[in-house]
Amino acid sequence: MSPYPASPRLKCAACGYEGPLERPPMECPRCGEEWLDVVYDYESVSKLWPEALRNRPFDMWRYRELLHVKDDANLVTMGEGGTPLLRAINLGLMLGCPHIYIKDERQGPTGSFKDRQASLSISFMKELGITEAVVASTGNVAISYSAYSALAGIKLWAFLTSLVPPEKMREVALYGSEVVKVTSTYDQTKQVAAEFAARRGIFRDRGIRSISARESMKTVAFEIAEQLPQFIGPGNGTPWRTPDWYIQSVSGGMGPVGVWKGYQELMQMGLVDRMPKLACIQAAGCAPMVRVEPVLNPQTLVITIATGNPGPAYPFLAHVIKEHGGAFEAVTDEETFHAMHVMAKLDGMSMETAAATAFAGLFKLLNKGVIKRDDVIVVNCSGHTFPVEKHLLGDEWARTIEVPEAVPHIALPAEEGLLGSLEQIDKRVHSIAILEDNPQSALLLRRILQTRGDYQILEARDGAEGLALVQRERPDLILLDLMMPGMDGFEILEALKADEELSKVPVVVVTAKDLTSAERKRLSGQIEALMQKGAFTDEDLLDEILKRTV
Ligand SMILES: Cc1ncc(COP(=O)(O)O)c(C=O)c1O
Ligand SMILES: [Zn+2]
Repeated sequence: MSPYPASPRLKCAACGYEGPLERPPMECPRCGEEWLDVVYDYESVSKLWPEALRNRPFDMWRYRELLHVKDDANLVTMGEGGTPLLRAINLGLMLGCPHIYIKDERQGPTGSFKDRQASLSISFMKELGITEAVVASTGNVAISYSAYSALAGIKLWAFLTSLVPPEKMREVALYGSEVVKVTSTYDQTKQVAAEFAARRGIFRDRGIRSISARESMKTVAFEIAEQLPQFIGPGNGTPWRTPDWYIQSVSGGMGPVGVWKGYQELMQMGLVDRMPKLACIQAAGCAPMVRVEPVLNPQTLVITIATGNPGPAYPFLAHVIKEHGGAFEAVTDEETFHAMHVMAKLDGMSMETAAATAFAGLFKLLNKGVIKRDDVIVVNCSGHTFPVEKHLLGDEWARTIEVPEAVPHIALPAEEGLLGSLEQIDKRVHSIAILEDNPQSALLLRRILQTRGDYQILEARDGAEGLALVQRERPDLILLDLMMPGMDGFEILEALKADEELSKVPVVVVTAKDLTSAERKRLSGQIEALMQKGAFTDEDLLDEILKRTV
């Protein structure tokens, strides 16, 4: 067995600091830089992989040594990554390009390449013990994080600009996340989300600044490098192969930044012989990287990639493209729709607009002669939206934050405008204690609570700890398991009864135990409801709780 992951270490590109990877690394302890990388023991991995990879499934986690989650028990995975690399035969024929390949990221668990990011980020959150998180998104990140959060028992607050297409919003809601619609641009939505997370002390995903985001995206590079030789043979003296071009539609720039790191690591391990050129394609109505200035009011229908201010990704990518070749290109919405139609008609690939933008960029760069017809080209077909029927959700599946029109782009005093509008959702309702020793059962109960309302959830894993928790926190309701080590549920009920105030807290027993009639008698009058594990649905449990916490 490999000693994975291969000793990940933090590295600051700004000052050269290297140190251990411990708590969520927010900034460089030496210089304060927020953009931190992880580096690994590449030498040992390069020795291990040729043999080890042969026996591993083709998904993102086959590159386990170079993904920074320490304990396998924390992996939150649904078979993400390992997407096919397809040759675009008809398109290639039409354009006279024999080597156009499509990395089909539509085939991820939620239909976009963000599933890689979600799997790694949520796994890392789990490793850090995080059970509630905030994310700002133009759609796909929120969808993907929502799915993985469900699996991990993390309550997710998804802040979306109200411009996000309703079918994407509904999918976020379907997974049980709190949908917060912010009536403003994506950049302002990020600000509102950050403020909300800070006020509540909730972990916030920092997008491109988060290590997990970039680390996950490098697996796209690894896979392409491993898949290309099937079509055109290996690189020069290396087993794997780099394409001449990696093309992607770009918003925050996480994809190309991560892919770049991936090829750097492969170079370091001697698996490929060179770096690709990156082509970053943006919508003309929101193309800050092409125009080299932030866009305050995006004017495009391709909302998924409408990041007006790309932040730190831009200088990074600009430097890479200047040094190694590559291109920033903008395409109109019309060109995007055309490309979308062409890809469906010619090669049978339907995709969402954000993905089609990359293809429109390819057409343009070929026409300009920037990309040569015989270059080896890989286009990331980054996603396809799954339509959620309206009737599934009822009426109240989103909260809206109205942001006043004339808000300046920069931070405002917290009480006003943009951030003041947060008050519209800023109240937490009830606290519920889960006293349950089985971690998976506790996760399920937590997850059911997370999907409805805004509960503060407290948890304890054994009786004594549970009693102490209840005495300290005085929750509004207790979900109690009966069989727990040390002090069991019956004893806890006795202890609650002896406390004037705690004896009034409603208790719902959730148990796997077949109760004897004597035991039932012991419970009667002491508890509000008895839920038999395996015999109730999420709705049944929520009904019991709602009855007692309104
Ligand atoms: C389908 C799709 N394509 C492309 C992008 C751009 O991603 P990034 O710029 O973060 O690499 C996104 C981002 O959400 C997306 O959802
Ligand atoms: Zn530093």
